[in-house]
Amino acid sequence: MRAVRIHEYGDESVLRIDDVERPTPGPEAVLLAVDTAAVNPFDTYVREGYVPPEDGGLPHVLGGDAAGVVESVGDDVTAFETGERAFVTGLGLDRPGTYAEYVAVPEQRLAHLPESISFETGAAAAEPVTTSMQALERGGMDAGDVVLVQGAAGGVGHAAVQVASHEGGFVVGTCSPDSSDAVRAFGADAVVDYSDEDLASAISDATGGRPVDVVVETHAAANVTADVESLATGGTIVVLGEDDDITVSSPTAGTAKGKQASFEFCSHMRATAHHSEGLTRTARLLQRNEVDVAVDATFPLAEAGAAQRHCMSSGGIGKTLLDVSG
Ligand SMILES: NC(=O)c1ccc[n+]([C@@H]2O[C@H](COP(=O)([O-])OP(=O)(O)OC[C@H]3O[C@@H](n4cnc5c(N)ncnc54)[C@H](OP(=O)(O)O)[C@@H]3O)[C@@H](O)[C@H]2O)c1
Repeated sequence: MRAVRIHEYGDESVLRIDDVERPTPGPEAVLLAVDTAAVNPFDTYVREGYVPPEDGGLPHVLGGDAAGVVESVGDDVTAFETGERAFVTGLGLDRPGTYAEYVAVPEQRLAHLPESISFETGAAAAEPVTTSMQALERGGMDAGDVVLVQGAAGGVGHAAVQVASHEGGFVVGTCSPDSSDAVRAFGADAVVDYSDEDLASAISDATGGRPVDVVVETHAAANVTADVESLATGGTIVVLGEDDDITVSSPTAGTAKGKQASFEFCSHMRATAHHSEGLTRTARLLQRNEVDVAVDATFPLAEAGAAQRHCMSSGGIGKTLLDVSG
């Protein structure tokens, strides 16, 4: 089968399309014939060696998320049958990933994908929606809370806006000005330009002066000061992405202490025990049209490098996908 692997760490040029053996699923795993895989920023961190693979090193198949059809099941698998549609998340770090025609998936990282949901939507929704639900739970979000989503046009941010809005939050999304209409359409009550020189004041204007109860933060190094300034007493900043070392000035640390701010660091890749349940909830939200995912661009599997470059470039809205079966 074809699989995109790295044999060394580096930029997109280290991605190679290799001809490899189909994986053999263990007794508690399923072999999935991949139709569509998603490209996540995390895949590039593995490629760069910033987060090295934990499945025995290189060469390594990249990719966390996919949707496709069950090709075969291990002896102890009870919930899936050959020929069923399914989607998966959380691969590509401790196991080979989804940039491949077939991937072996432990049952607990897989869920059924109803006929009404396309493979593209399933692959695109897997990581962003499950991560958003996890982040809002970790933030202790309640209906009526003010929720700030930093990076609201991105893969995970646009899902977080929808989930928080659906759960009754007053949602402020930050994005670049070109994306503001799209972020409003996802359900944000107000939109702020993340590059505003006085981001905290712009957020305060957007909320009508109400402090923020929960921040979903995808760029913590850039935004932590504004997050703390905007936060309500007892509020929570859920850090999903940093981009760089997070440095907190003494006055900001003092403000955070005074507000009894909580910082939660969420890791989707370490939540593998909950992925099946998260994906099942995701399918339900998609079926009820309570959440939708935007697909920014789709590339053939052989152009995974271009797809990763696109994913990490500015200006897109939603997810980058790989068409594996086409
Ligand atoms: N911890 C976890 O479990 C977890 C799970 C999922 C994702 N993440 C992390 O979250 C981050 C975002 O992931 P993603 O899939 O949403 O990426 P993405 O699709 O590339 O989106 C990133 C978005 O952030 C915007 N942005 C850039 N700089 C910003 C800033 N200073 N403040 C606010 N927004 C800014 C970008 O806008 P422009 O396009 O206008 O530049 C873009 O819309 C990544 O670091 C990823 O690794 C973590």
